[in-house]
Amino acid sequence: MNVILTKSYEESAQKGAELILNALSQNPALLLGLATGETPVGIYRRICDAYRDGNADFSRASSVNLDEYVGCRAEDSYRRFMDDNLFSNINLPSENITIADHTADPITEVNRLRKFFERRTVDLQLLGIGPNGHIGFNEPDDELEPHVHITPLTKSTMDANAHWFADGVVPERAITMGMGDILRARTILLVVKGESKRAVLRELLNGGKVTTRNPSTFLLLHPDVTLITEESLTV
Ligand code: PGA
Repeated sequence: MNVILTKSYEESAQKGAELILNALSQNPALLLGLATGETPVGIYRRICDAYRDGNADFSRASSVNLDEYVGCRAEDSYRRFMDDNLFSNINLPSENITIADHTADPITEVNRLRKFFERRTVDLQLLGIGPNGHIGFNEPDDELEPHVHITPLTKSTMDANAHWFADGVVPERAITMGMGDILRARTILLVVKGESKRAVLRELLNGGKVTTRNPSTFLLLHPDVTLITEESLTV
């Protein structure tokens, strides 16, 4: 694992955006795996700025999102988050965007996304990490799922995400890429932001073991992971 330690989240976001923009300039038809939450916001802002300044072209690129809530309101959906933070501000063609439809039948959506991953390989997967070590919505458990699936959310995840919902009520289920879908990405960029991630980050950096209790440790099995985080979170 290639570890980049920074002085601040802003520096992490800058480095993350640079890595993504470099990958795009080397491969204009890049398939980007995208994440939602607090962590990627600063990265997406810099990518939008680069597009506005004429330094990025997404016209041949495509994207697939890690996860989406099942049966949430449009304004609370990750689709809306992506539109607001990235898609509305860059020239990624709408037909090249893949994300579970929060209004559709979840089983139909799981099947549609499983077919997507049978055909396509993510070139660069952007990941955050949950305070409980989840990646996507692959929550700590005795067993982990390899493919796209519907998952109940743990209380820890619902609590961590409640601030995104106007009424504080978080959907209890989500559709998520599986661990195998994530680990098949050619390159993985993991960005860790926030004090609440300190314990799971330490386990990932210092433990050296893979455990379903901290799904992020499965990234130790991947040959090309770059981790960007603030140095202060690692001590
Ligand atoms: P956050 O969420 O970026 O909002 O901290 C990350 C995650 O839960 O994967």
